[in-house]
Amino acid sequence: MSAQQPSNALRREIEIYNSVEELSQAAAERFISASDVAIRARGRFTVVLSGGSTPRSLYSLLATEPRFSRVDWRRVHFFWGDERSVPPIHKDSNFRMVRETLLSKVNPPPTNIHRIPAEKTVASEAAKAYMEELKSFFSLQEGEWPRFDLVLLGMGPDGHTASLFPDTLVLHEATSLVAAPWVDKLKSYRITLTPPALNHAAHVLFIVAGPDKAPALREVLEGSFRPETYPAQLIRPLDGKITWMVDREAAAQLHTGK
Ligand code: 6PG
Repeated sequence: MSAQQPSNALRREIEIYNSVEELSQAAAERFISASDVAIRARGRFTVVLSGGSTPRSLYSLLATEPRFSRVDWRRVHFFWGDERSVPPIHKDSNFRMVRETLLSKVNPPPTNIHRIPAEKTVASEAAKAYMEELKSFFSLQEGEWPRFDLVLLGMGPDGHTASLFPDTLVLHEATSLVAAPWVDKLKSYRITLTPPALNHAAHVLFIVAGPDKAPALREVLEGSFRPETYPAQLIRPLDGKITWMVDREAAAQLHTGK
């Protein structure tokens, strides 16, 4: 079931699925069709991957038949929306999770993997290096933004997305592509794409599942605009589409889902 917003609103879709499995299968189809369109049009598909646990089943579905053969993995360029300030072999590394569930199975050309170098001891140095990689890959001039074909995002129970956490300065970032915020609740630095870097994407796909997300999802989608408290509200593609793919448990408090 989906609820399309009126055309004059942000091009937002909300799709509610019976389970994480169904959600992941539908998200895999979106990934595959987005890769088709991008590769036909530009010979490549640029996708920003999310960390966390929800996307694991999506990545595993893409890495196995019958879906594996439906993507030209040689033409897919992988980016990350955020990373923990840890080496790529660390158990908490988003890169490690994606390598284990997807990259080790689809084996793209190594030059297609644009990892956030979070092993750098200074998080701001990692952010700077990732920003340089983005500027080089997209041949960005000063003041220009990358237009990712697809951005996958999750949402925490507190309404954060990527590493855009409530009440952090990065929520107000308007000029940098990448930031390295200190997240006090985690007592650690993170490296993250900024709101404008995410909002220049062609398509943003949120995948949200589980009852613990229901209160924040209601506030993000149906509450007043309070991005300091619910940073996921900042994600509003300027010239693109946003699709919320959620399971019934996460959607339990939505009026849309009634
Ligand atoms: C991360 C993610 C983060 C994640 C949410 C939801 O680094 O953890 O970027 O934004 O998407 O915390 O995580 P789950 O999908 O595991 O609930």
